[in-house]
Amino acid sequence: MSAVFADPQTAGRPLRQQLYLAVKAAIEVQVLRSGTRLPASRVLAEELGVARNTVLGAFSRLEAEGFVESRHGSGTYVRPLPATRLAPSRPLSPTVPRRVSARGARLLKQAMADELEVQPFTQGLPDFSPFPLAVWQKLQNKHWRLSYADMLDYNDTGGFTPLKRAIAQHLRLTRGMTLNADQVLVTAGTQQSLALCMTLLADPGDTVWVEDPLYWGAAQTFRASSLKLHGIPTDAQGLNVALCRHAPPARVVYVTPSHQYPTGGVLSLERRHALLQWAHDAQAWVLEDDYDSEFHFAGEPMSSLHGLDTHERVFYLGTFSKALYPGIKMAYMVVPSMWVEAFKRVHYDLHRPGQMHQQVAMAEFIEMGHFHATIRSARQHYAQRRSALLRALQPCLGPQVRIGGAEQGLHLCLHFSPQVDDVALAAQAAQHGLTVRALSRYAVARRQISGLVIGYGYAPLGRMAEDGRRLAQLIARALSSARSTND
Ligand SMILES: Cc1ncc(COP(=O)(O)O)c(C=O)c1O
Repeated sequence: MSAVFADPQTAGRPLRQQLYLAVKAAIEVQVLRSGTRLPASRVLAEELGVARNTVLGAFSRLEAEGFVESRHGSGTYVRPLPATRLAPSRPLSPTVPRRVSARGARLLKQAMADELEVQPFTQGLPDFSPFPLAVWQKLQNKHWRLSYADMLDYNDTGGFTPLKRAIAQHLRLTRGMTLNADQVLVTAGTQQSLALCMTLLADPGDTVWVEDPLYWGAAQTFRASSLKLHGIPTDAQGLNVALCRHAPPARVVYVTPSHQYPTGGVLSLERRHALLQWAHDAQAWVLEDDYDSEFHFAGEPMSSLHGLDTHERVFYLGTFSKALYPGIKMAYMVVPSMWVEAFKRVHYDLHRPGQMHQQVAMAEFIEMGHFHATIRSARQHYAQRRSALLRALQPCLGPQVRIGGAEQGLHLCLHFSPQVDDVALAAQAAQHGLTVRALSRYAVARRQISGLVIGYGYAPLGRMAEDGRRLAQLIARALSSARSTND
């Protein structure tokens, strides 16, 4: 077990977490089979040279997740694995050779999307109720009835021209941006926008600067392009631009300046100017992911980085996933004018874009004012949910818990001291039917972070007080157990 315990993938995480992951992996690949008795905690602690509490903590999490059971007076035993756990784990086992590429194996190992069960506090999901489905259906039906040949074909213009005009106008009005409609490119989601940027702006092996912690979807896209991720620490003011000085050279930086994902920091004006200056001096590119800026609850939203950029160094990425619904798979980018033709051509060659009925319907949806009305109505829903969540969490907030990102978007982040095992806390919450995510899971290189990312977009308002109260209790318990372990 100690060889697995020295896994470089988990090195640097709290010992309890490393031990938990090592035993879990051994159970999943059936190195430890059902019925195997684990060594007594005292013996194992001595053997590994760790505190007994570390072993007990790892065992109790394994028990809570159903991997082991403790039999009174007899010891701790491996439980049978449910078939659903067994199947995906075996091909990934390092001991079972498979014909998966090294890049594919890395992606599979770091996959996070399928962990998120849709239930209260799931992050990233919006509320579907403000979306005017009847209007949307009517618009789609109208255009299906009118189908012209070019709507059934691939599209080589970077998107339906009236839609590009409508998006450009929306961005001028709401994000302080100066742009021509021709600079807009409609894509099938932010990850496709990012993949296009990586194809045209970087080569395999190049370094891309990213925020640490980082949006996993962006991380996976960069890995798929065989890029090296260099994490720059973030704080309450977003990416710490001053630290870029110590980073290996890069020509691309990816940021979420309006609402850092996941910590919620807002990139300060000073840092915005510093980042743009760096990009100008280094002839580098800034990828601005403005995924949820439609939802702002306090004060005036800061203007986008793109709006401050006077040298055309920023690629702006927007999406309809949060403002409308994720399954729509429609997003857009604003490309510096010198890049427009190259992006259009490569997009056309690689992705063969289409779905023109949806684009035509969307153009009308925006022009007729439905888009802004939907955002207004959704903003009210989210403001209520956010307030209810903050009220419910109040008892566990205090000097030990800093709250980040609550003024904007669909999630907030609670920051704890690094002694709190946020992964175990999220696992406990899952057992109570609450999907929160451990902040440390988003880390690139920073291991000393702990917190919870909590979504309120999808969480029903009627249940917020009760669900929030239960979550607050779990948090309070985790904080006090971290305190007593420290003492
Ligand atoms: C930081 C960030 N960017 C973008 C998106 C949206 O991506 P897409 O347009 O692919 O749905 C998300 C969704 O959760 C996100 O968290």
